Amino acid sequence: MANLASEFIGIKSPNPFWLASAPPTDKEYNVRRAFEAGWGGVVWKTLGEEGPPVVNVNGPRYGAIWGADRRLLGLNNIELITDRPLEVNLREIKAVKKDYPDRAIIVSLMVPCEEEAWKKILPLVEETGADGVELNFGCPHGMSERGMGAAVGQVPEYIEMVTRWVKQYSKLPCIVKLTPNITDVRKPAEAAMRGGADAVSLINTINSITSVDLDLFAPEPTIDGKGAHGGYCGPAVKPIALNMVAEIARNPETANLPISGIGGVTTWKDAAEFMALGAGNVQVCTAAMTYGFKIVQEMISGLSDWMDQKGVTSVSEIVGRAVPNTTDWKDLNLNYIAKAKIDQDLCISCGRCFAACEDTSHQAINMSDDRVFSVNDDECVACNLCVNVCPIQDCITMEQMPAGAIDPRTGEKVSDKHGDWTTHPNNPMATAAE
Ligand SMILES: Cc1cc2nc3c(=O)[nH]c(=O)nc-3n(C[C@H](O)[C@H](O)[C@H](O)COP(=O)(O)O)c2cc1C
Ligand code: SF4
Ligand code: SF4
Repeated sequence: MANLASEFIGIKSPNPFWLASAPPTDKEYNVRRAFEAGWGGVVWKTLGEEGPPVVNVNGPRYGAIWGADRRLLGLNNIELITDRPLEVNLREIKAVKKDYPDRAIIVSLMVPCEEEAWKKILPLVEETGADGVELNFGCPHGMSERGMGAAVGQVPEYIEMVTRWVKQYSKLPCIVKLTPNITDVRKPAEAAMRGGADAVSLINTINSITSVDLDLFAPEPTIDGKGAHGGYCGPAVKPIALNMVAEIARNPETANLPISGIGGVTTWKDAAEFMALGAGNVQVCTAAMTYGFKIVQEMISGLSDWMDQKGVTSVSEIVGRAVPNTTDWKDLNLNYIAKAKIDQDLCISCGRCFAACEDTSHQAINMSDDRVFSVNDDECVACNLCVNVCPIQDCITMEQMPAGAIDPRTGEKVSDKHGDWTTHPNNPMATAAE
């Protein structure tokens, strides 16, 4: 069985699966049970400054989007940071860390954007024996209205300034958690690096309104007739998170900055994808909230089996392996030619591919009178739409045409050379082709 031991910015954990800062990590009871279930580490639910804790709403704080089978695809929340007193959380962190020295415990922090506030809380965290801190510059609701969370994360100068304070007043490894509610995620990541961050983690939740109650005419979840935007997470946000992780990993400025990948991780495969795009480990929230702590056991066994099959012996070998293959559109090979192919044994004659291609793509699927569907290579541009709308997995596949064959759509021979937009004759800015 592959060894899943992980070391992220010098913090060791038995596997790369950490619980993200959120309700699953809000108290000792939860974290002990999470560790018993097998989680490699946790980022404790965000702590605020000393004094009266924040107050949460007393009505529904979650909204959701479901698939047709009622499987939860996206979760929206209007919860704030921990609403339990600072000293209680610190006492519990210390107790759990003492009993689970081999697991990672990171403490998430969000205090006002003032040097004194950070200077005051950091020694209290260090005293617990925690392995590191994560700066929550991402929370998009409630706290941002008070000048914290995403309000800091949207201003690179603030990120740099606060990170510098944290590195000045604490020896603990520092992870800066980024908000996706910005235009270019590379800027805050660069700012975190300039401030001395040991790593970034992303994504926090995305600004969202999941639905509107059409009797009350108010966004849901509705509190006494009113709704507010919340933070979106779960499987639906994974594509956005993967792209942001890749953007940071591909950016020469931040290429060596460790990344903790967050956003929709539900299976071992999601985790492997984040790692392939540059994440050193992953954090999980919605999947644990939907299926319980034991979901980590599927992640552990799945990742380990896959690594065995691939002949990969350590998780660090996966990290960043897909980064060199993540490129810009202009560098894609325009001489790569494929055609859709329908497996008649799998086809159930539903006709979805026909409707999609006929009405919105290239009229490349034929339907016979007795509902046999076939692809017309003379028209097919291999757009992949039929694959994506077909209800049967692997029923339609994309087959690459071999070099030298004639593409019946264009009448041209398939080239064995790479040819992209940078050298294409139709590109007025093209550099001379080789
Ligand atoms: C109810 C809820 C509360 C959260 N609270 C925090 C928080 O206190 N601090 C924080 O950094 N992130 C918080 N998050 C964001 C998660 O840590 C994570 O970044 C986000 O949910 C994306 O991961 P996921 O798709 O696995 O859920 C919260 C998320 C949820 C659903
Ligand atoms: S790949 Fe696109 S063009 Fe080809 S058959 Fe499918 S939908 Fe039509
Ligand atoms: S969508 Fe798939 S199953 Fe349905 S007709 Fe097309 S190939 Fe067959």
